Amino acid sequence: MTSFDLTGKLALVTGSRRGIGHAIARAYLIAGARVVLNCPDADRLEPAAAELRTLSAPGNVLTSAFDVTDEAAVEAAVAELTAEHGCPDILVNNAGIQIRGPLTEIPVADWRKVVDVDLTSAFIVGRTVARGMVARGSGKIINVCSVQNHLVRPTTAPYAAAKSGLGGLTRSMCAEWARSGVQVNGLAPGYLDTDLNASLVGDAEFSAWITSRTPAGRWGEVEDVTGPAVWLASAASDFVNGQVVYVDGGLTAVI
Ligand SMILES: NC(=O)c1ccc[n+]([C@@H]2O[C@H](COP(=O)([O-])OP(=O)(O)OC[C@H]3O[C@@H](n4cnc5c(N)ncnc54)[C@H](OP(=O)(O)O)[C@@H]3O)[C@@H](O)[C@H]2O)c1
Repeated sequence: MTSFDLTGKLALVTGSRRGIGHAIARAYLIAGARVVLNCPDADRLEPAAAELRTLSAPGNVLTSAFDVTDEAAVEAAVAELTAEHGCPDILVNNAGIQIRGPLTEIPVADWRKVVDVDLTSAFIVGRTVARGMVARGSGKIINVCSVQNHLVRPTTAPYAAAKSGLGGLTRSMCAEWARSGVQVNGLAPGYLDTDLNASLVGDAEFSAWITSRTPAGRWGEVEDVTGPAVWLASAASDFVNGQVVYVDGGLTAVI
């Protein structure tokens, strides 16, 4: 099992104050890594960091507040992190939002916001961190995609377009950086019970439909994605590159 061990690794997980990102950061910490929590607001990060500091040596939990869509802020934060702790060994581009609405009505500003946070951010944060990874000759990047890379439903066009694009960006990053020892993969969760889906979890009709539509017969929990996230961050996946791994209870496999 040593190839799954993350001892000595530094992992930056964007959007890790709560939800999937927080669960992945927790799993990396337990697997031995030092983790860097992120969200746009430093004060709001502290309770999330304090919770994780109870699980490990306090110095193993760092914070870096920046907006993943703000190129200047990203570059400053990554430069500061790298100067103090070295270039991250692992980057999880996890920060994401959802704005639902009919395609004929959705404001262009909302479209741009979703594409910015869910796709352009991975380009900005990914290439900023990758410069250091390429120079070092090693690194792991995990882009948190979605079953909507593949499947869509009405009212989620900006999100589906952004997440589909993230699959293409994942393959492009692989094409450019694989020879430099960097593995870039997508992790695509199915329907998980997080704040992002609060309105759907609370909708009994939708919840019954998604439960019946998912072969596993249930909503996913954030813990369902942590094992695959550790695998993709570890040496155990060193020859896996440019792939999107679906963790969806079978949703994309079965009509
Ligand atoms: N839940 C699902 O079923 C599901 C399925 C497939 C894929 N995903 C993807 O998984 C990722 C995490 O989703 P989640 O369900 O855990 O969502 P969530 O609970 O809403 O958490 C989203 C996180 O992203 C952060 N964030 C949002 N905009 C940001 C920005 N501009 N800069 C930095 N951080 C930002 C949020 O910060 P604050 O806490 O400060 O708001 C929050 O910590 C997203 O990419 C989502 O698309 C989720």
